[in-house]
Amino acid sequence: EKNGYDHFMLKEIFEQPTALRKTMTGRLDQEAKRVDFEELQWSPETIQQWNKITIVACGTAYHAGLIGKHVIEELTRIPVDVEVASEFRYRRPIIDEKTLVIVVSQSGETADTLAAMRQSQRLGANVLAITNVVGSSIAREADEVILTMAGPEIAVASTKAYTTQVLSFYLLGLYLAESKQTVTEQKYKQLIESIIELPEKIEGMLEHSQGIRWYSDSIKDAKSVFFLGRGLDHAVALEGSLKLKEISYIHSEAYAAGELKHGTLALIEEGTPVIALITQDEVSEKMLGNVKEVKARGAQVLGVAEEGNLDIWEYVDETCYIPNTPSILTPLLTVIPLQLIAYYTSLALGNDVDKPRNLAKSVTVE
Ligand code: M6R
Repeated sequence: EKNGYDHFMLKEIFEQPTALRKTMTGRLDQEAKRVDFEELQWSPETIQQWNKITIVACGTAYHAGLIGKHVIEELTRIPVDVEVASEFRYRRPIIDEKTLVIVVSQSGETADTLAAMRQSQRLGANVLAITNVVGSSIAREADEVILTMAGPEIAVASTKAYTTQVLSFYLLGLYLAESKQTVTEQKYKQLIESIIELPEKIEGMLEHSQGIRWYSDSIKDAKSVFFLGRGLDHAVALEGSLKLKEISYIHSEAYAAGELKHGTLALIEEGTPVIALITQDEVSEKMLGNVKEVKARGAQVLGVAEEGNLDIWEYVDETCYIPNTPSILTPLLTVIPLQLIAYYTSLALGNDVDKPRNLAKSVTVE
């Protein structure tokens, strides 16, 4: 049931704070500020032997995997590859007993992801599944399972499944980092404190959800919309772009902002909407340089940045602020306005928001 919401997608967007709290339950001890996964059977020796992690998934789950790569590499220094399952399964991937393979799937039934998992197991890798559906094929066959606890997701466009997958990666990253002692106690605790605050911050953002509607109205007739970002912002840009094209049918692309000059810049013309994600402190100056480049070609730029970042005003046309949090955690906040932009744009165009054309919720055939 839609619980008074017009669409499942909107309901699921609003369920995110609760879903995220459920993901934390039993894994994150808020008093002791520790992460533990009782469901994981790995010994410290097992964790120690992995020399590589490979994340495999499709669509939005793949985008969550891109965040997972950043987070796990940053916290554990284990090299992480991320690959779409349909590519992975048809090449000869280099994995063995020393590889941890993480498959990510909301439904736990995606054919390509399931095939990639079976192939990994044949090659001797340990497979961890991050999935939302208990009893799904992937949950049953994986060696280890982290259930995201998002609750049923009905809308084809994935929202709360994504944010709970991303949160699972933060918790997993911290768990592995503690075991490998690759993070200081101080950083570990600081991150946990900030993670605990995220659901409330999202609640605060959702209270003003209507505030972004004007923006959707302004892009609904656009030929193309571009999303730009660097680092984690690039991964979120990909997700924002997928969400928009999936339900609004507007052509959209996401680019690592530094790649602009290598081709994409040619597509920017007078009035082209550009959504620039500027939440990563280390590269924010570089991002502003890229914003200048697209502005010079006539782009209309919406800058998404952290509250208090006033520097962006002189560069962008409009701003959308997210609450402050450590740079590594911003994806969970940045994605919220992007989900809402996609939702309201689809709505403004009169599309079937929950059941976009040509798409199925669960892709059980290749
Ligand atoms: O159930 P899965 O997480 O394996 O599904 C993967 C994709 O099919 C899915 O995320 C798809 O990209 C969504 N419709 C995007 O919103």
